[in-house]
Amino acid sequence: MISVAIDGPAGAGKSSIAKEVSKKLGFVYIDTGAMYRAVAVYAIENGIDICGENFTDQVLDKIDISIEYDEDGQKVFLCGKDVTKRIREADASVGASNVAVIPAVRLKLVALQRELAKKTSVIMDGRDIGTYVLPDADIKIFLTASVEERARRRYREMIDKGMEADFEKVKQDIMYRDKNDSEREFAPLRQAEDAVLVDTSDMTIDQVIDKIYSMILEAK
Ligand code: DC
Repeated sequence: MISVAIDGPAGAGKSSIAKEVSKKLGFVYIDTGAMYRAVAVYAIENGIDICGENFTDQVLDKIDISIEYDEDGQKVFLCGKDVTKRIREADASVGASNVAVIPAVRLKLVALQRELAKKTSVIMDGRDIGTYVLPDADIKIFLTASVEERARRRYREMIDKGMEADFEKVKQDIMYRDKNDSEREFAPLRQAEDAVLVDTSDMTIDQVIDKIYSMILEAK
């Protein structure tokens, strides 16, 4: 069994790359950001203040997140309801970054992530996979790109999916998340000492996929 950790800031291309490389290798892709997004959607839809004192009592005991895989890819269920599309909306992105600051939220989700990684070869992407969730991962990659390029990619992705998007707002949200995710106290976004840095600013998705695929084959 092999485990691959891919970390990096929002919009660096982690999920598109992890999805394709896992398909080529027959590994399971675990998108940990989707779990933080689902917690945020629960709070937003139930009118619960993410920054409020009772957030953890109001949310953590009641929330049930499950992830299933079929031929269309990953589906995320929140208390039995399919929220796969809902978690990609802008309020869920910023909300996820905000709930991710709360240690009790992280502990609950990290337990779920480690459980999933025990069963099979995985590529797991997030912010703290190489540093905290899977410190013994066989391969660790830190993917990054300039803020401009990441905002452009995220904007294009939203437009392609038929979602409404404003480039400046997308860029501001990414900058907010970069700061929030890297400055939090518990398991912040950080490159692990033994991770390989890959800057994708001037690379196409296919070039990044080839590079990471070869790195994993070499290490296997
Ligand atoms: O990868 P993503 O953009 O879907 O993640 C959404 C937010 O969730 C991100 O801004 C920070 C948080 N997150 C985290 O703190 N730790 C992870 N392992 C994954 C995501």
